[in-house]
Amino acid sequence: LDFARKDVDLPQSSPKKLLKGLHSNFIQQYEKDKGGYHYIMAEHLRVSGIYWCVNAMDLTKELHRMSAVEIVDYVLSCRNKDGGYGPAPGHDSHLLHTLCAVQTLIIFDCLQKADAESICEYVKGLQQDDGSFCGDLSGEVDTRFTLCSFATCHLLGRLSALNIDSAVRFLKRCYNTDGGFGTRPGSESHSGQIYCCIGALAIAGRLDDIDRDRTAEWLAFRQCDSGGLNGRPEKLPDVCYSWWVLASLSILGRLDFIDQTSMKKFIYACQDYETGGFADRPGDCADPFHTVFGIAALSLFGDETLEEVDPIFCMTKKCLGDLRIEMF
Ligand code: FPP
Ligand code: ZN
Repeated sequence: LDFARKDVDLPQSSPKKLLKGLHSNFIQQYEKDKGGYHYIMAEHLRVSGIYWCVNAMDLTKELHRMSAVEIVDYVLSCRNKDGGYGPAPGHDSHLLHTLCAVQTLIIFDCLQKADAESICEYVKGLQQDDGSFCGDLSGEVDTRFTLCSFATCHLLGRLSALNIDSAVRFLKRCYNTDGGFGTRPGSESHSGQIYCCIGALAIAGRLDDIDRDRTAEWLAFRQCDSGGLNGRPEKLPDVCYSWWVLASLSILGRLDFIDQTSMKKFIYACQDYETGGFADRPGDCADPFHTVFGIAALSLFGDETLEEVDPIFCMTKKCLGDLRIEMF
């Protein structure tokens, strides 16, 4: 037993099953209360916020309750001349929002409204000589942007627009001896970055380049006594890491490396039984980000009341259809 380990207690009164109906109400509230989707979230993360919300509704089989036309028009209005998408109209393009725009269009089955070629030209322009990607013109390199690039171009049927070999070479330089991956070469291992690197390698068909068991073991050590998962050693468990870690294990074919029963208990305990939605940990304030990743994690565990989720793209298998990547 490791006494120094940080963890939380699950209150007796915590929910012990999925409160599905409450969550779709919680998400829909963001549309209703605030006078339309334009007010869903702070401007700087609006398109990402829209993806979290519509994806949560798709996973809970309640997408029909969303105003599809209005949301799609709003997302399309965030497109810039450089081919990328910003978080809100008039904001600079960023890879994070460009991927979320593409994901949202796929969820509403209207990807044909996007200009695939100009989006992929934009993404290609962010690849550096060493194979890495910047998220935008600010020049910040991060392995999370490699996943955003690969996912965006794959979903648009144009992965070959990118230099995959040099991108994979860069990812392998971010692969640490402990089995994890960091943001850049030499950076410490972090569950979120592992998800990004494993997902990108899976899209590239290059998962055989790493030691799956070693990576899966590092991920399995993220489980705390409460059942929850943390992002790094000595950090508190957080429900969004249920997704980053579980999805990574699922892509690696090693979901059985963690204890599913206690994990589910922790995820259920993060639900707010009054407002609906999930918080990062029991007792905190619920938000759409932790809600979608909490639901997605339960879907990975096979909850039959939810749509099945794809571990690489974090979208329903149903909306992805042939765009899915079969790993085994
Ligand atoms: C930690 O974030 C989380 C990550 C590093 C993963 C981010 C993942 C993406 C941007 C890709 C999303 C793509 C799909 C398909 C869902 P943090 O900065 O909050 O870390 P902290 O918890 O250590 O503060
Ligand atoms: Zn979190």
